Amino acid sequence: MVSLREAGIDPNCWYGVARSTELGDRPLAVELWGRSVVIYRQNDGAIAAMDDCCPHRFVKLSDGVVVDGAIECPYHGWQFNGDGGYKTIPYLAPNQRLPSCRIPTYPVREQDGFIWLYPVANVDPDTLPPPMPIPEWDHLNYIASVATVDCPGHFSFLIENLMDMYHGHLHDDNQAWANPR
Ligand code: FES
Repeated sequence: MVSLREAGIDPNCWYGVARSTELGDRPLAVELWGRSVVIYRQNDGAIAAMDDCCPHRFVKLSDGVVVDGAIECPYHGWQFNGDGGYKTIPYLAPNQRLPSCRIPTYPVREQDGFIWLYPVANVDPDTLPPPMPIPEWDHLNYIASVATVDCPGHFSFLIENLMDMYHGHLHDDNQAWANPR
């Protein structure tokens, strides 16, 4: 039997990795369970997600730019489409073919003001259940916020702590957002 405190992360679910407003014209680097992923917005507004690693010399694509819906590596200017395939290699002669390899891609969705990533490569997104809805996010009756909590502990401790409203005692009742009873 495995202790809850030793349980690993199950990658088979959607993770909110950014707010929609955080993704502008430039690529955005995302670190999720040891994976480096780059996300960027394509011409039609849809988001693409792929390994943050150029297959040429392993440079981070998130340091590059978005050019006409493709992501361009900062080193030699190779460009990749949202499906991970090559769009162009700028110095190839007309009689040279593009390589056939592809960068691993990830399902990504935009929902309720957040960007959701499914950190399993090359999965058909149509076979997945949708991310958990958060309709409260934009609802006037709710006050919602995003906070990054970075602490060296097992995630199960953090979940318990945040669900334990009665621990206000620890904070000497200095909780502006709640009055636990
Ligand atoms: S390292 Fe990316 S194009 Fe060369």
